[in-house]
Amino acid sequence: MGRTIRIGALISGTGTNLQAIIDSCESGKINGKIVFVGSDTPNARGLEKGTRLGIPAFVVNYGSIIRDFKKNPATVVPPDDFDLNDLISKQTLFTAHADPETVKAFIITRAVAEAKLIDEMRHYPFDLLVLAGYMRNLSPYFIERVNTDPDIPRIMNIHPALLPAFPGVDGYGDTFRYGCKIGGCTVHFVDYGEDSGPIIGQKAYEILEDDTIDSIRAKGLKLEWALYPECVKLFAQGRLKTVHRSYELKDGRKMRRTVVKILPSPEY
Ligand code: GAR
Repeated sequence: MGRTIRIGALISGTGTNLQAIIDSCESGKINGKIVFVGSDTPNARGLEKGTRLGIPAFVVNYGSIIRDFKKNPATVVPPDDFDLNDLISKQTLFTAHADPETVKAFIITRAVAEAKLIDEMRHYPFDLLVLAGYMRNLSPYFIERVNTDPDIPRIMNIHPALLPAFPGVDGYGDTFRYGCKIGGCTVHFVDYGEDSGPIIGQKAYEILEDDTIDSIRAKGLKLEWALYPECVKLFAQGRLKTVHRSYELKDGRKMRRTVVKILPSPEY
């Protein structure tokens, strides 16, 4: 049995995925320990799931930073190590056609919030950061300060759809509205885009004639509570390796893809 990994968690809501990971750590399924729970809002009901167990918790109120910026941008001061153009060139959340002022406002407000997150997280060293229903996109400012080795991603996210279908804020709703016959959930490493990072694991459920948004959310969440701990366990066992592969199309063009390889279990 290897070293116990230290897991930080960021949440925005009920925290049922956080609970599933806590339970798996407590039962010994994951050789890990949650070392903090952070939130972007004081209203996250899941915060108390951690505090009840004595896990340190903190809030960085994104909403108030964004409101202050809207009122008077000069009052929202980016961190000293902030480089707007560098961050804009790296992010892939916005397309080249997006309104430059919108992109600028996004990057500044997020970097200010993220610098505060990093300040809080500094007190609790961690090996893996799990986004468990964290409803804020992270900018390159944050990601590159956590992924200090770009080849070793260590921010995971769970998304309520079979990516790359339906990224964004309402995966189950989008799956339902599209009339899909199959829905699912995805755990992936976070990159500079929206729900676009390398996929670690997915689970799928069938959508039947009489399903509603609520019933498919219930089916999906049940799978999420199994999938997320499985993926965290693989990380804790050191079995996730992100590799870049290339292949050639018939017309000779070279394409690249990034795959998370699951290494064999050391027991076998
Ligand atoms: C989950 O369905 C999760 O997949 C989703 O929010 C819910 C959080 O539930 N995450 C996203 O949509 C991220 N874009 P929880 O707070 O009970 O774990």
